[in-house]
Amino acid sequence: MAGFREATGDLRIEDVTKSFGDFTAVDDLTLSVPRGSFFALLGPSGCGKTTTLRMVAGLEQPTSGRILIGDTDLTGSRPYERPVNTVFQSYALFPHLSVRDNVAFGPKRRGHKDALAMADQTLELVQLQHLAGRKPAQLSGGQQQRVAVARALVNRPEVLLLDEPLGALDLKLRRQMQVELKRIQTEVGLTFIHVTHDQEEAMTMADTVAVMNHGRIEQMGPPAAMYDLPATAFVANFVGQSNLGEGRVTGRDGDFVVADVHGSTVKIPASRCAVTDGRVLFGVRPEKVHLGRTSHDVIDRDRKVALGDDLQATVLDVSFIGVATQYLVQVPSGATWSVYEQNLDVDPIDLRPGDQVWIEWDPAHAFGVAAEGAEILAGSVLADRTIPTPPAETPQDATS
Ligand SMILES: Nc1ncnc2c1ncn2[C@@H]1O[C@H](COP(=O)(O)OP(=O)(O)O)[C@@H](O)[C@H]1O
Ligand SMILES: [Mg+2]
Repeated sequence: MAGFREATGDLRIEDVTKSFGDFTAVDDLTLSVPRGSFFALLGPSGCGKTTTLRMVAGLEQPTSGRILIGDTDLTGSRPYERPVNTVFQSYALFPHLSVRDNVAFGPKRRGHKDALAMADQTLELVQLQHLAGRKPAQLSGGQQQRVAVARALVNRPEVLLLDEPLGALDLKLRRQMQVELKRIQTEVGLTFIHVTHDQEEAMTMADTVAVMNHGRIEQMGPPAAMYDLPATAFVANFVGQSNLGEGRVTGRDGDFVVADVHGSTVKIPASRCAVTDGRVLFGVRPEKVHLGRTSHDVIDRDRKVALGDDLQATVLDVSFIGVATQYLVQVPSGATWSVYEQNLDVDPIDLRPGDQVWIEWDPAHAFGVAAEGAEILAGSVLADRTIPTPPAETPQDATS
C-alpha cells in the first residue's frame, strides 16, 4: 500500500488557517508550489512563516484547510509519515556522532542497509566528503549547516523545508551558502521551500517568492516581476525600497492614470495602477529617478530624451557607495525620497545637502497601489535609514 511517504507532486496548501486561541497566525492561506521549484516564503518576524512550515511538516495541524502533495491529502498525518524534511537555523546535529553518522542516521533508522553509502553520496553533493570523519564541534558554522542540509537531503524528501537556515551565519558566508543551496536544489531537483525575512536572500535564490504579512500572502510571483510591479504598499516597501506619495486620481491621459500627489501631477501606466479612482499611493523605485540641477536637464542616459515627470527637491544627504551614489532629497510634500545614481560619469554632478535639484523619472516606471492600509507605513518608508537634518543655510549662501 502506498503511504503518505510515497506521495509525489506539487505541494498544495488549501484554505489553511491556524489559530492559537483567538489569535490567527495563518489566515486562509492558499498556495501551490510546483514540484521541483525553489520557493521562498518572505515576510517580517511573526507573520506566520514558521507556523506554515510546521503545518507542512506535520509538526502542527491546521485549524482548518488541507495540505496535499500531488493528490495525497497529508492533513492529519504524522511528521515521519510525510515525504518532508526540515532544516532549521539551529543545526540540531548529534554532537557525539561523526558527520557521516549524523547523515546516515535517518536511513539507518529506516533500515537501509546502504545507509553509509547514501550518506557519503549526499556529503559529496554538499562538498563535505573530506570532513566525513569529523565531529560537528570540529566544523565551522557554514559546514555544520551543510551537514544539516545533507542530513535532510539523504532521505530524498519530496519537499525540503528550510526555516531561516542561514540566519546564524555572517553576511559573507550567507551569500556563499545562498549560491550553494541554489546549486544543490538545481542538482537534486527537489521542491525547496525556503523561509526568510531577508528580501535579498529570497530574491536571489527563489524561482517564486510569496510575500507574507499578518498570516496572509500579499503577493506571489517571480522576484523580478514583483520588484518591478509591487501589488501593495507593504510589498513596495518590504521588497526593495520605494518612493511613495499619497494622492488622488484626477483622470486619464491615454494609457495613463493621472494623479495629483501633494499638488504635483504624476502619471501612472493604467496597466501598473491598482486603483482607477479615489485615493492612490503613487510609487517609483529609487534607481528609476534621476537628478539634475535644472528642469529637464535630467535625461535618460541611454535614450537621450527627457524623462517626463519631474519634481523640484532639496538635497538632504549624499552618500557615495561605490557603484552608485545614494541621494536623499526632500520633495514638495515634505516626504524624503531616495535616488540612486549609478557612478558612470568621469565628472559626476557635485551636489551638497541644501542644493536645489530637479528629480525626474519616466512615468512608464511608476506604479500605483491602494492607499488604504498605507497609513501604518507612513514613517516606515525610510525607517531603516538615518535622515540627517538639512543645514539651516545652504553652502552657497554661506560663501556668496
Ligand atoms: N504555539 C503557539 N502558541 C501561540 N502563539 C503562537 C504559537 N506559535 C506561533 N505563535 C504566534 O503566531 C505568530 C506567527 O509565528 P511564526 O509562524 O513563528 O512567525 P514567523 O516564523 O513568521 O516569525 C506569532 O505572533 C507567534 O507569536
Ligand atoms: Mg520563524
